[in-house]
Formats: sequence, structure tokens, C-alpha cells
Amino acid sequence: MAQYQSFPDADGDSRTLDKLKALKLPDLAGLTFLDVGCNEGFFCGFAKFQGAQRVVGIDQSRGFIDRARRRFPDCEFYQQNWDSLPEGQFDVILLASALHYADDQAALVGRLVERLSPDGVLVLELGIVSKKESEWVKVERGIDQRYFPTMAKLTEVLAPFAWKWMGPSVSQSGDPIARHVLHISRRRPIAYLLLQPPGYGKSSISTRLFVPAGVPVISGDQQISLVAQGKKSVSQALHEVINRDYSPFHLDQTLQRVFDQGAGSELIGLCIEEAGSARDLALDMYVPVEHHATVEKAFSEKAYLPVLMLWDRVGPSPTSEQVQEERARAYYLAMPAPSMATRTGKSGFSGIVGFVDDVRLKGGNLLVRGWAVDENGQLPAQLNVRIRGQVFPAESLQALERPDVQHHLKSANAHVGFRILLKIPALTGYQDIAGDFEVVTTTGKKLRLTRKVAETLAMK
Ligand SMILES: C[S@@+](CC[C@H](N)C(=O)[O-])C[C@H]1O[C@@H](n2cnc3c(N)ncnc32)[C@H](O)[C@@H]1O
Repeated sequence: MAQYQSFPDADGDSRTLDKLKALKLPDLAGLTFLDVGCNEGFFCGFAKFQGAQRVVGIDQSRGFIDRARRRFPDCEFYQQNWDSLPEGQFDVILLASALHYADDQAALVGRLVERLSPDGVLVLELGIVSKKESEWVKVERGIDQRYFPTMAKLTEVLAPFAWKWMGPSVSQSGDPIARHVLHISRRRPIAYLLLQPPGYGKSSISTRLFVPAGVPVISGDQQISLVAQGKKSVSQALHEVINRDYSPFHLDQTLQRVFDQGAGSELIGLCIEEAGSARDLALDMYVPVEHHATVEKAFSEKAYLPVLMLWDRVGPSPTSEQVQEERARAYYLAMPAPSMATRTGKSGFSGIVGFVDDVRLKGGNLLVRGWAVDENGQLPAQLNVRIRGQVFPAESLQALERPDVQHHLKSANAHVGFRILLKIPALTGYQDIAGDFEVVTTTGKKLRLTRKVAETLAMK
């Protein structure tokens, strides 16, 4: 029996130690390792030496298997054809300088990939014919004739898998073609994650990139609205967090809540279901940046390869709703009212006009609401409450929008409503106010009471 592998005590046809380096094996500590066509077990011995947890070698040759067992008694060796493989899955499977012996080479690669653990790798070392066409080429060797693939043919065979060319392997005397090393693994479906905030162009990118490629684009907004309409069966927790204050105009806030409250993974599950599991998909859904890792993890756990896509927004960003609200109000209040000037004089507001239209008393808290305009059409800066001759200055005079008053007075300013909250512990009930209650300006002008307020105070 010829000597193929080289050991310190036996020089074979193959430069085995150099081949070992060319294989670019991963760290094998704790992994399971299978060598198909293992010969005398050189690579199995290396795997055991590196701390692999289980090491198995198979070869159809009784002679090579006997020698392998003698050299590496800690490894499992079986004399068997690769048409039947040992039980179990393996983290690393090696097929070196042997594929050309298979009757159906593509089928053998497929069967070996099937035996990989989910993230396992098939290390394939083989001769590749240097030719452009996609072909199996019959190669005349010194000992026999065998078929070897061109790179184009190999690319076709490996299309269902994820693979990478790792570099050249060692040559052997009399080699008619060059040898190469490839690492092949199961291809995980890819989840392209477009999680940027609203206004970043997620939908435009999806339409331009994924729709033409036939990759389903799952809209998070749509999933949420289906849950809100009760069209998806989900956990009580997800249902509640989505429906609390749900509005199609504030989906970013809903998404923030969903992820803050730990319901994000369930939402991702809905999106995967929508796409049909085990398919590439693109997810178009705003996710706050602090929860991106949660989304990636949820997809990884469902055996996807998450690809997070990040890009900058083009153009100035809109300010938050709260900032917009504050700025608009500040602008409105600061706005000069030229139209009022034309209305002053005889037909305009020559003095304070206003009404008190609500008075409430609860546990010593007096709440007064109404509206007032001064000669400039503005809410007076100060109002006082007078009860039975005693004056209580309204320290916090809150301006309110009163479009009804604005319309009625044909004024440019809607912020003429007011709300006064006073703490007067001595007031125990309406009887303490009844008969003598006024809201007055600093110059002593009184606001009128609406009939309802007047009646209420007179009655109590
Ligand atoms: C060229 S040697 C390569 C040995 C080893 N993989 C290496 O690279 O050093 C090919 C090996 O494949 C084994 N072999 C060939 N056909 C086989 C089959 N159908 N099933 C299992 N082993 C086979 C041979 O017995 C031989 O040991």
C-alpha cells in the first residue's frame, strides 16, 4: 500500500504538513470534526491535538484505517464508503484531495453540507481546472483519469451555499492542475435591516433595491396597524402596548414603547412570519438605536444573518413635535398685532374685556378659567382674584388658546384664555366665595362672570 500522507517516520507523496497550513482550519478546541477520506488520520490527529471534543475519520481503505487507529488511538476511525456517513452533525468537515473520486461530486458536497452543525464549515481541498467555461474537465493524471471542475462549474455547484476561496493548496509532484482550498457553509437567509428614523428614505431604498431583486419588504408600520386592528393573533402584552394610545401618525412612539417594554422580539416574529420563514427579507421599520441589538439578536436566534444598514439622513431634520409646538406658540405670542391697531379707538378695545367662565373649588385649590384682552388685544400680564375684599394675586397665570374668542373678537391673537390656580386653604366650600368674587386687572378693571358662574356662586 502506497504511502500518501507524510509523518516524521514515513515520507509520503503528499506534503501533508504544508497542506495542513493551507487548509486554514478554524480553532478546533471543543468542536466536533469529521475527516472524509481521512487516509492515515494526519488531520484527525491534529484536531485531537487542538482539543476537538469529538474526532471521526472515515476511509474506504482497510489498510489506511488500521494505520490511522494505531497512530491516533484517541480518535474514532471507521472503514466505510462516504455514501454512508457517521451519525451526528459536525462543526468542521474536511474533504481533502478526494472529491474527484466521487461518482457524483456535487451530490457529495451537498450531503456533507447537510451534516454540518448550523454554523459549521466544510473545508474542501480540490484541484480546479483553469478554464473560463463551466465544465467538469477530464484530466489525465499519471495514475488515472478523473473529472475536475472549472471555477465557473464550482460556482454553480456551490450556489446554494455560502462559500469563500481561501487560497491555493500545496502542489504534489506530477499534479496536472492546481489545488485550492474553499470553506463552505450553510447559507443563512439574510435579514436586511432598515431601522433608521422616519424621513431617512427607508421606503425609497427598499423600492429601488429589494423589490426588483424579489426580496420581500416587510413594513413594521403595517404589522403594527394589523395588530391594532386585531387582525393578528398576538400575546396580550403586545396587543396592549400597541393599542395604548395607538395612532397611525405616531408610530415612532408606538415602536419606542414596544421595544422599551420588551415586546420587540415578538414583533420581529410577526415580520418573519409575514415574509415566510427561511427567506431573505428586508425589514422597513423604525427602531430606536438603543434597541438595534435586540432586533439583530431576534433574527440571529431565528437562524437569519442580520445585516444592519446605516446611512445618514439627507437634508435638515425636522425638530421634535414638542419643540415645534413650543416654537410655534412662542412665535404666535410674540407676533405683533397690526390689525388690532386699526381696531383701537372708538370701535376697538378701549379697555379690558373679558369673562370668567369657570370657577372650581376642591380641597382649598381654587381653579379659575376665562379669557381677557387688553387694549392691544393681548392677555393682560397680571390678573388678581378678589374674594370678599381680600386680593389674591395669580402668581401662575397660564395662557390658553381660545380660538372661539379670537373668532368672536376678530382678533389676530388666539392666546387670550387664562387658567389661574390658587391655593387658599381657608376656602372650604363655595359658600366661602358666594356673593363676593371678582377677577380684576392691576388697574382695578373687573372681568364679567358668565351667567353660569354667577348663578353657581350665588347658589352655593
Ligand atoms: C488522495 S487521498 C487524500 C487523503 C487525505 N484526505 C489527505 O488529503 O491527505 C484520498 C483518500 O480518499 C479515500 N477514498 C477514496 N474514495 C473513497 C470513498 N468512496 N469513500 C471513502 N474514502 C474514499 C482513499 O482511500 C484515500 O485515502
